Amino acid sequence: MSKLKFAIVGAGVWGETHAYLYKEHPDVELSAICDLNIDKARALASKFDIPNVYDSHQEMLKKADIDAVAIVTPDFAHGKIGVDCANAGKHMLIEKPLATTREDVEALVEAAERNNVRVMVDLHNRWNPPFAVAKQSLDAGELGDPVSAYMRLNDIKWVATDMLPWAAQSSILWFLGSHSVDTLRWFFSDEVDQVYAVSSSGVLRKLGVDTEDIYQTILQFKNGGIATMENGWITPNTHPCINDIKFNITGTKGMINLDLSNNQMIERFTEDKNDRPDVLVRHFIHGKPKGFAYESIRHFVDCLVSGEEFLVSIYDAANTSLVILAIFESVATGKPVKVRY
Ligand SMILES: NC(=O)c1ccc[n+]([C@@H]2O[C@H](COP(=O)([O-])OP(=O)(O)OC[C@H]3O[C@@H](n4cnc5c(N)ncnc54)[C@H](O)[C@@H]3O)[C@@H](O)[C@H]2O)c1
Repeated sequence: MSKLKFAIVGAGVWGETHAYLYKEHPDVELSAICDLNIDKARALASKFDIPNVYDSHQEMLKKADIDAVAIVTPDFAHGKIGVDCANAGKHMLIEKPLATTREDVEALVEAAERNNVRVMVDLHNRWNPPFAVAKQSLDAGELGDPVSAYMRLNDIKWVATDMLPWAAQSSILWFLGSHSVDTLRWFFSDEVDQVYAVSSSGVLRKLGVDTEDIYQTILQFKNGGIATMENGWITPNTHPCINDIKFNITGTKGMINLDLSNNQMIERFTEDKNDRPDVLVRHFIHGKPKGFAYESIRHFVDCLVSGEEFLVSIYDAANTSLVILAIFESVATGKPVKVRY
């Protein structure tokens, strides 16, 4: 079988993550890269030997011979690029979130269906080993039926102040809350009926980043499940891991707790810092990319080749975005809000 020809739109931090996986996947030929900043596109092209470089996705879609596109631009830019890729007949792996407005969500789903292209969104917490093992236990009946969940998924401040130049044009709810909502929907095997949320701001604005600091959200599922979700990016930078993750799922017969904030497996002490390096998400072993951030991308390629269904469908991602839009509405109105599907 000939290889699938891939393009990446967005040559930033996560675009590079995609490039590592496509470069090593035996069924992929990484043939094009695009970034509004052509220098960034050229830099990744030279690092990964990518022959075709563009500064506009429209031009790339016209000229490049490609089967699939990874959309790895800032959160707010996924929607319009996705519609253009669908109209050009390209399969897509879209970084989370699918899109950040109702109009973009609906347009993308409509364009994907009309053009019969396959779309997965990189809601990769489903490949996160402790979450996956907890879900297997729930699915095996060991916990009974899910009743209640708690999920904290926070980032250290540095992510908003230094890592993401576009943090103020997004929100911690799009950036991490999309993982939380998808994970909770997955555990409850159900859709969120209504949400009530409050937020707090001030810390990041004082640091020059015009966005909310933290959200607390209560979610009620259609079949009665309840969950509390916390998403913030004001965790102190001295926290040993970028993410602060806690999770509990309580069922009618059992319960599972996860603590992914305090990895004790490796403690590193150097002259100027101590930390606990990541050994789950994204790292290299003997030069090969390893970790669940790569596994979700690999899954997309493998399913394109085999024809199997993606573990995260476009509808999972669309509904996740609609829940987040309801959370914003609840914060703005101070009232519980029904999710409009
Ligand atoms: N799955 C995960 O857990 C995970 C982790 C990190 C980032 N992400 C997602 O990946 C995406 C990119 O994040 P990042 O950290 O790489 O950001 P980044 O700022 O490092 O890179 C984004 C790149 O996109 C380019 N860009 C912006 N608009 C564009 C357009 N219209 N056409 C072409 N290029 C454009 C920018 O110039 C920039 O180089 C975001 O949606 C983010 O939420 C996902």
